Amino acid sequence: MGLRLWQVLGACVVALYGVVPHLWAQPTAERIGDRIVRFTDIGVRATDLEPSVALLEPRPGMGAAPADFPVEPIFFETDDNKEGFAIEIEPGTSLYGTGEVAGPLLRNGRVIECWNYDAYGYGDASPHLYQSHPWVLAVRPDGTAFGVLADTTWRVRVDLLSAIEMISDGPDFAVIVIDRDSPQEVMTALAELTGTIEMPPKWALGYHQCRYSYFPDSRVLEVARGFRERNIPADVIWMDIDYMDGFRVFTFDPEGFRSPRYTNNKLAEIGFRNVWMLDPGIKVDEDYFVYNSGTKRNIWVKSAAGTGNTDYVGEVWPGDCVFPDYTNSIAREWWSGIVSDFVRLGIDGLWNDMNEPAVFNVESKTMPLDNIHRADEDLGGQGPHAKYHNIYGMQMVRATRDGYMESYPNRRPFVLSRANYIGGHRYAATWSGDNTADWYHLESSVPMVLNLGLSGNPFTGPDIGGFAGNGDGEMFARWMSVGAMLPFARGHTGKGNIDKEPWSFGPEVEATCRRALERRYRLLPYLYTLFREAHMTGMPIVRPLFFLDPTDPALRSEDDAFLLGGDLLIVPDLTLNSDRRPALPADFETGWTRFGFDDLDDPDLPEMYLRAGSIVPSGPVLQHTGEKFLDPMTLLIALDEDGHASGTLYEDAGEGWEFRDGEFRLTTYEAITEGDSILVRATKREGRWTAPTRAVRVRILLPDGRELEGTGRENEDITIPLN
Ligand code: NOJ
Repeated sequence: MGLRLWQVLGACVVALYGVVPHLWAQPTAERIGDRIVRFTDIGVRATDLEPSVALLEPRPGMGAAPADFPVEPIFFETDDNKEGFAIEIEPGTSLYGTGEVAGPLLRNGRVIECWNYDAYGYGDASPHLYQSHPWVLAVRPDGTAFGVLADTTWRVRVDLLSAIEMISDGPDFAVIVIDRDSPQEVMTALAELTGTIEMPPKWALGYHQCRYSYFPDSRVLEVARGFRERNIPADVIWMDIDYMDGFRVFTFDPEGFRSPRYTNNKLAEIGFRNVWMLDPGIKVDEDYFVYNSGTKRNIWVKSAAGTGNTDYVGEVWPGDCVFPDYTNSIAREWWSGIVSDFVRLGIDGLWNDMNEPAVFNVESKTMPLDNIHRADEDLGGQGPHAKYHNIYGMQMVRATRDGYMESYPNRRPFVLSRANYIGGHRYAATWSGDNTADWYHLESSVPMVLNLGLSGNPFTGPDIGGFAGNGDGEMFARWMSVGAMLPFARGHTGKGNIDKEPWSFGPEVEATCRRALERRYRLLPYLYTLFREAHMTGMPIVRPLFFLDPTDPALRSEDDAFLLGGDLLIVPDLTLNSDRRPALPADFETGWTRFGFDDLDDPDLPEMYLRAGSIVPSGPVLQHTGEKFLDPMTLLIALDEDGHASGTLYEDAGEGWEFRDGEFRLTTYEAITEGDSILVRATKREGRWTAPTRAVRVRILLPDGRELEGTGRENEDITIPLN
């Protein structure tokens, strides 16, 4: 027998990296699912490794890997004794994922580090941002795909210069490889391993308005009222750190936020939800109840200095701080308990920031690597910060979520986190941190959301308008237009910047923002259905164009346009003064029809196209999701060449867990051409909710640009003459 592929690759590894691969025996490979294989280095058993934090639950081995499994990592040790592996890729393979990264969608030729980092002002060349996803999705030239997970919490260098190579700072780790016929199937298999998002409350899909910071509480109300006065849809307003008393979490500025409950109530009266920030750094202050109660329970991360029983102190917003050791269940329960009291003030959602954790005035921007975590055994037991750094934020949001649930077991928590780790989408949504108000960051918003989705986290979005700096009205309008089409839509800006509410740049920009948000609210029934799909299967909500045809090389690097679900193609203009047009699918001319909501004249709004053969449910413009939903309903229909179309709509209470017991309605709508008319009707219903009687409007988009319209009621057939 000649040299095996991995031996050839091994030789290349030696040549390229000067490291010694383990060539003379094969890695251990065991099946842990259908065409999912866990590889470990020679002589290393999976049971000897640190427990997986990424996986939803431990995956016992199910026997030997299939003999024909097409992917095989080569494990090696670097000169400085680091563990790594490499997987060869055939020419024409496209690489994606690696979590939250700046720069383009296609990751070939890139090197990043999985190391959660306070990356203010990041750019294309930043080696690491706030989250860690040691995960790569590889799409072969024939459109088949595989995914590779380095199952370790330690710092990982992901090198995609010519192969898939990952090197960890920690001990031996498992490499999990998923092999599938398409990238979509890899994504759903990843979700089998790492879980899916929980259904968010419906309000979290609305528009969110934030700034650092709205202060005092009267300003919060003024901004919220500003939306209602101007008829600009919005659901949520956010409280950044200045609401606190001297940046002490769980306290309120005695002058600026005298009665948070009153503020929350007043917001609720006008249909606004609230989200309040919580940071992990706890001010060292003996007059502060949070510091005292945590100290009493001895739950702070420890410094390695001395006896190892000294609380680590680092500087963040309030000055000297200690840090809860969220890797420990006692600390998490303590945190959850305080969160649980806190949210009883009428708090709807929570924002966990600075949880890399960020530490000021140190070169590393975080705590020392030898700090001591007294982690739970199922996370890996006591160990250094180097091992737990990347999951610190994840364990924080886990505890925050639990705290919310303690007080409101019948509500769906909404937590937003800056730091996280692969699998952490189970606990929190993500925003892409401190971007900058410039065209580069506007453009980056799309590939960042795409790659996060391709790394298992579908609920993400950028700071619309840019966090650092001001930007101008034109950029703001464009950012809002595309941001309104992304899963998490929140405007935010940093301290000292100009106002960045939708009306801050004058009437023209305001009008574009209104239209953009009206689109989002009209499409909420579809978006909510996509969230349900993400929750059930792990499919991203925003998807790359190459999902349409993974064999088409032209689509592989396209990130100027994207898919919202399977049926909408969104083509935003992300650049200033450029006529760059995205590569579009081969069937673009015949397979996609442009549509709008009487807003096609606005050049700042993205072009929207409906896939031939699809039905997308939409609703009336709402000012917020608490308004009467989806009556009348409008079905947007584009027929395929057989005169047929179908689509689904998921509906539930938008809150609570009854949907798990069947309290929902999943309706399939179909349109069929019969003779010279089109018949539209609901053909299938799942769930316990019965058929509604609401009014239905039908818009049939014809390829020649004409539109046919019909009206009727949901529980009746609707017939529209073709001419
Ligand atoms: C850093 C966060 O990234 C930003 O969004 C926030 O406004 C500031 N911290 C202040 O809390």
